[in-house]
Amino acid sequence: MTATRGLEGVVATTSAVSSIIDDTLSYVGYDIDDLTENASFEEVIYLLWHLKLPNQEELQELKKQLSENAVLPEEIFNHFKSYPIENVHPMAAIRTAVSMLGMLDDNADEMNKEANYEKAVRLQAKIPGIVAAFSRIRKGLEPIQPKKDTSLAENFLYMLKGKDPSPVEVEALEKALILHADHELNASTFTARVCVATLSDVYSGITAAIGALKGPLHGGANEGVMKMLTKIGNVENAESHIQALFQRKEKVMGFGHRVYRNGDPRAKHLKEMSKRLTNLTGESKWYDISKKVEEVVTFEKKLPPNVDFYSASVYHSLGIDHDLFTPVFAVSRTSGWLAHILEQYENNRLIRPRAEYTGPDLQKYVPIDERI
Ligand code: SDX
Repeated sequence: MTATRGLEGVVATTSAVSSIIDDTLSYVGYDIDDLTENASFEEVIYLLWHLKLPNQEELQELKKQLSENAVLPEEIFNHFKSYPIENVHPMAAIRTAVSMLGMLDDNADEMNKEANYEKAVRLQAKIPGIVAAFSRIRKGLEPIQPKKDTSLAENFLYMLKGKDPSPVEVEALEKALILHADHELNASTFTARVCVATLSDVYSGITAAIGALKGPLHGGANEGVMKMLTKIGNVENAESHIQALFQRKEKVMGFGHRVYRNGDPRAKHLKEMSKRLTNLTGESKWYDISKKVEEVVTFEKKLPPNVDFYSASVYHSLGIDHDLFTPVFAVSRTSGWLAHILEQYENNRLIRPRAEYTGPDLQKYVPIDERI
């Protein structure tokens, strides 16, 4: 048995949810360029969960279900209020809150198809509110419950900031949510599938996935990008800062990808959005620094930016706190995780690979007082 490091190139499952073929990303066969241009995030959620685009009636029904299930139980607020959270990373908080939602759901362990779909709706509906509530409570503000008949993107910004977002902000977040919704068998989606393949419940699968997304080699990179841009501070410093990272053999956050070779197709949309939004906020320096960093990294290492690179300056321009960038990724990716969880349940087999053993040969137990 020979191990493949990082499972590179290993095909671990079949899936009809999304595909990456020749550097083109599609959800159920629809190119993300097409969806980003034309669809709403709710339509994309429906697409991922039902493997077809909804008609008008089906879309209205999903929106109604999401709206009806978006109100958070007081227990979540009380939990956030019950301990000092200033130094808690929001990803740890939402991971815990999702786990808690599972404890509060009497049907958490009901495993039939309908019950699992209902849990998917409940979770997708509540996750924006969890992120917003955590953000407000840690600032000493009261959490805000969602509005009715409002899109998920608009409601999230409303609950986060306590005022109606502008149409430009809503459109930008909507597109970002669509772009982050699913991505074949990325690390967090694989984690979710491994978890529920034991026939564990939906909440456990999403809790595990949030844990995997948190890391800086995965979703945590977008926060890392903003830290880097902030440290660089102005365009003139960009080249020397990146060269110093190379010298120290450190990774440049937001660059490289296991699957794409010629570039992440989501990055161009986020780059365009970054340019437009930073211009509107009068802070085009974030776009300018990003562009310079891209020039240096692609010239020196031939590594193109991934989804996390320009999303950093996009979220910053939307007035989102930097440590909430990865939670925003999670709000979107919950739709993809849930699609994969539902798909896994449909045709389940335990996921249990092998390890190539590299330890010592069989040896005899030595009593403790005879050991040196
Ligand atoms: C996401 O998989 C998905 O689908 C994830 C995602 C999704 O939508 O779910 O697309 C979202 O997680 C995007 C990736 C976010 N992470 C980062 O931006 C962190 C920085 N990037 C890397 O650490 C790296 O590129 C990974 C983690 C994304 C990919 O890692 P791999 O495939 O294991 O590649 P590697 O680390 O083995 O790198 C191969 C080579 C190495 O050089 P050599 O040792 O061969 O000389 O490329 C170099 C690496 O040092 N390299 C980098 C680099 N990325 C790769 N060098 C500097 N900076 C980088 N960012």
